[in-house]
Formats: sequence, structure tokens, C-alpha cells
Amino acid sequence: MPTPHEPTHDCPLCPRLAEFRTQNAAKFPDFHNGPVPSFGSPDARLLIVGLAPGLKGANRTARPFTGDYAGDLLYPTLEKFGFSKGEFKASPDDGLELIDCRITNAVRCVPPQNKPIGAEVVACRPFFAAEIAAMPKLEVVLALGGLAHKAILATLGYKQSALKFIHAASYEVANGERNIMLANSYHCSRYNTNTGRLTSEMFEDVFTLIRDHLDGLD
Ligand code: URA
Repeated sequence: MPTPHEPTHDCPLCPRLAEFRTQNAAKFPDFHNGPVPSFGSPDARLLIVGLAPGLKGANRTARPFTGDYAGDLLYPTLEKFGFSKGEFKASPDDGLELIDCRITNAVRCVPPQNKPIGAEVVACRPFFAAEIAAMPKLEVVLALGGLAHKAILATLGYKQSALKFIHAASYEVANGERNIMLANSYHCSRYNTNTGRLTSEMFEDVFTLIRDHLDGLD
């Protein structure tokens, strides 16, 4: 479900990403090749924030973390912790539903080499801020990686130095009138899992923290 403030399919705010989109549309005409919308209901209490769509993953399928390696750890973990139902088949028509969880990206368009630059994170921030504003029941924001953590801090009005990105750390942060939890995890990228920086146990530790927190609020 979209928020009221969404980027257009041909969003021109980031010249480098718009140029990359044009190149990809010529090369891969069947791909989505546009800003990837968030997945899950805005009524969810958990918002998971990734970095940016993968070229042949979300940029192809139009669903975050879907169609490349990045979803292979995330979606089974969500199921294990009761945040999804249905089978994840790495395709937007797999019928998978998120439960009390929404997934977005700090940058909505695929960047070259999977690396958005600072100006692109800043340009995309209004869309990210609109995501947060559109979630009335938001209790936990999970940053997948340091860049997502920084994007969240900036959006909530914190200095970049205010809270350190540390795997499995959690902080209480102000979201307007309400306090919410900001949780950190290393990004579930192929690089991080292949190098052992992030194991499935380490990822599950973060979801245990989040699940316990949400269940404690009931
Ligand atoms: N796919 C996404 O949608 N986000 C990421 O951060 C990585 C892959």
C-alpha cells in the first residue's frame, strides 16, 4: 500500500540514478526499473529499512529484497518470528504476506554498484520521512546496515554522531511525540553472510530483541 507521498516512476531527483534507470530500461526492458514501493501495511508496528534495491532483485521485481540473494535470509527469518505468512518464493506473486511489519529502503532506486551516494540518501529522505509519518502504530525501526541507521537518525532529527551503529544494539528514540525503538543489524547481504560478518544466529538475535519488545507492549 503506497503512502500519500511517493516518488514517480521516472523520479528525476537523483541525476545519477535516473541515468542508471534509463540504461537499465534499455538493457532490461522487462524489469520494473523505477523506485521500489514499500511492502507491508502502514499499520504495522515494525518498519525494516534496507539500503537500496538490487539491480536484478527489487529493481526487477518491484518488491524490496525480492529476486536476489538479499531476501534469502530476511524472509525466512521474518516467518520464523511471526512477521510473515505464506511461502517466500522470491517473486512478488508468491502470495507472501507480512504481519505487523513493513519493509522499505533508504534509497528507492537501484544505485550503480549497490552504493548510493550521500546526496541520493538526502534526496530520497522526504519519501522515507513520509513512510515513517504514515505509520501511526510504529514501535520499532530496524536499520539493516549503517547507511540505513544514518538515514533513520537524520529523518528523526538526530545528529549522525548521536547514536552509533552497532549490530544488535537498540536505542529509544523520539518519533515526534512518541518514543520508539531503533534497532541495528548488519545488512543481510550476500557479502556479509558469505564473509561471516552476519550469521543467521546473529540476525535472529536481533529479531528476538524486536519480538520480545513488541510482545512486551501487548
Ligand atoms: N534489496 C533491497 O530491496 N534492499 C536492500 O537493501 C538490498 C536488496
